[in-house]
Amino acid sequence: MRENLTYHAAEISKAQRAAQKGQQACVLWFTGLSGAGKSTISNMVEAELFRQGHHSYLLDGDNVRLGLNADLSFSDSDRKENIRRVGEVAKLMSDAGLIVLSAFISPFASERQMVRDRFEQGEFIEIHIDTPLSECEKRDPKGLYRKARAGLIKNFTGIDSSYEPPVNPEVYLDGSQFTAEQCAQKVVEYLTINGWLKPKPLRAVK
Ligand code: ADX
Repeated sequence: MRENLTYHAAEISKAQRAAQKGQQACVLWFTGLSGAGKSTISNMVEAELFRQGHHSYLLDGDNVRLGLNADLSFSDSDRKENIRRVGEVAKLMSDAGLIVLSAFISPFASERQMVRDRFEQGEFIEIHIDTPLSECEKRDPKGLYRKARAGLIKNFTGIDSSYEPPVNPEVYLDGSQFTAEQCAQKVVEYLTINGWLKPKPLRAVK
């Protein structure tokens, strides 16, 4: 099939769309166990970006699984497909010049690498929210760990499905030592220090 398809470059570039919004396009890829704080922290980051006048969109695991990915289960192969689709959506949204935030467990290193490879150097910002299983289980905001321990949910991450922590994430957040507010602040700091919240300087016209 692929051999009969041709990629069409658009007239307006990603950099132009992002510059119009006063920023650079990137993806903030939050990863961590269920209950680690991905949704809470990514929401706080987005709220602060919005307050500063930036244009963003948050793709959240539970929400996307209720819509676009409603046909996918939690088997290893469906989790891979979940991340592949989310990676492609994130790619399209970043092409629109947005700062994309994604909050998925994304348990497998190879799928996170696959998504990273779809982006330009530096654009994929991996954020590991490292909250220990014992703490996530104590929080159990949706009562899912309790159900998983009781055998009512199969393939639950951290219980009977694996989680491969990032080896070298751009941002490492110790979710048991810092508050959600502090974690969110560190992410915004990373973006500010690395220049993502300013447009790329335009090349001079001669
Ligand atoms: S991922 O592994 O495919 O990246 P995703 O982030 O989309 O997972 O969805 C995780 C959310 O689905 C959890 O926060 C939890 O609310 C819910 N969930 C339901 N069943 C499971 C399961 N077996 N393992 C993990 N999370 C589950």
